[in-house]
Amino acid sequence: MHELNRLERWEHLFSAPPSTLVTLQSYEFSAKQIKFYLKCDHQLHPFISGNKWRKLKYILHHAIENKFDTIVSFGGAYSNYLHALSAACAELDLHLIALVRGEETKPLNPCLQFIHNKQHDLVYLSRNEYKKRYDADYIQGVKQQYPQALLVPEGGFHELALKGMQQCVAELQQQLGDWDYFCLALGSGGTTAGVISASVPGDVWAFAALKQADYLQIQINKLLSEQGLTKQSFYKLFSQYARGGFAKIDVELVQFCIQFYRDHGILLDPIYTGKAMMGLFDRIAQGEIANASRVVFYHSGGLQAWFGYLQRQQLQVEHAKQISAILMTLLKG
Ligand SMILES: Cc1ncc(COP(=O)(O)O)c(C=O)c1O
Repeated sequence: MHELNRLERWEHLFSAPPSTLVTLQSYEFSAKQIKFYLKCDHQLHPFISGNKWRKLKYILHHAIENKFDTIVSFGGAYSNYLHALSAACAELDLHLIALVRGEETKPLNPCLQFIHNKQHDLVYLSRNEYKKRYDADYIQGVKQQYPQALLVPEGGFHELALKGMQQCVAELQQQLGDWDYFCLALGSGGTTAGVISASVPGDVWAFAALKQADYLQIQINKLLSEQGLTKQSFYKLFSQYARGGFAKIDVELVQFCIQFYRDHGILLDPIYTGKAMMGLFDRIAQGEIANASRVVFYHSGGLQAWFGYLQRQQLQVEHAKQISAILMTLLKG
């Protein structure tokens, strides 16, 4: 059998059937006759999960079509995005140079170890240098340093990511017809930009994983207008559910994720979807969602993040046991 070329590998990797859409039942929803749906993109691939699978799909196609054999991109030391990108590059026989924020620490954390095990390069940037990742001059310098590589911005915040998310929305329309709210977690804003540039039947509610995220509205609008796209739907950005800041966790959040798993058999991640779901529950409790609404929550993956918290022993002992047991069950399944 001939060895698959990169394009064939790409087709194989990105031709998954539609991700499942499940209906969740709970007192919070039934008391208001809310129909609550979860779009399970976290199940698309064991390592390239959720929005990363959607965002990377056409970016990597572009890389292959244009004969790049290397990708250069940026991310934090625990980045879900770099983790997923490294897995995708390995599957497509592309090399990744991961520009990682901060100093090297040994032993490597589970995320960086995963990238290293895939034979990719980890290049550490000081925090000051990392801050320049959006400066045109700095980017030009990086491109000159890696002339054979396609440079992809942090988080896959790239015009080609929009198309992948638009496809997700189209897929959902096939599955559900219409809905009143599409709720999702927001980091760089690329995923949200993709959703609002599609013709979404209802409002889009984006729950930021970082504090003071309002500036991202400007970035989102810029990305869309550069592509000649406009907002197709009303969207609202919530900045108050970051719970102390990006990647900061607390007992209440971890308990919420464990309880959500007990109630629905679905694990949320602690950085994005856990916080977003807590935010959404709060809006529901405050009566902001009209009775009998149809609400979709987008599960954007990111479960690998739990391994980082377990390794750093940042969970209470009992919670660590419970989360480990859940992860083991999911890995076996
Ligand atoms: C699990 C998860 N949810 C949401 C997001 C936020 O996506 P974006 O950066 O496109 O806003 C990320 C980041 O990629 C993520 O890993």
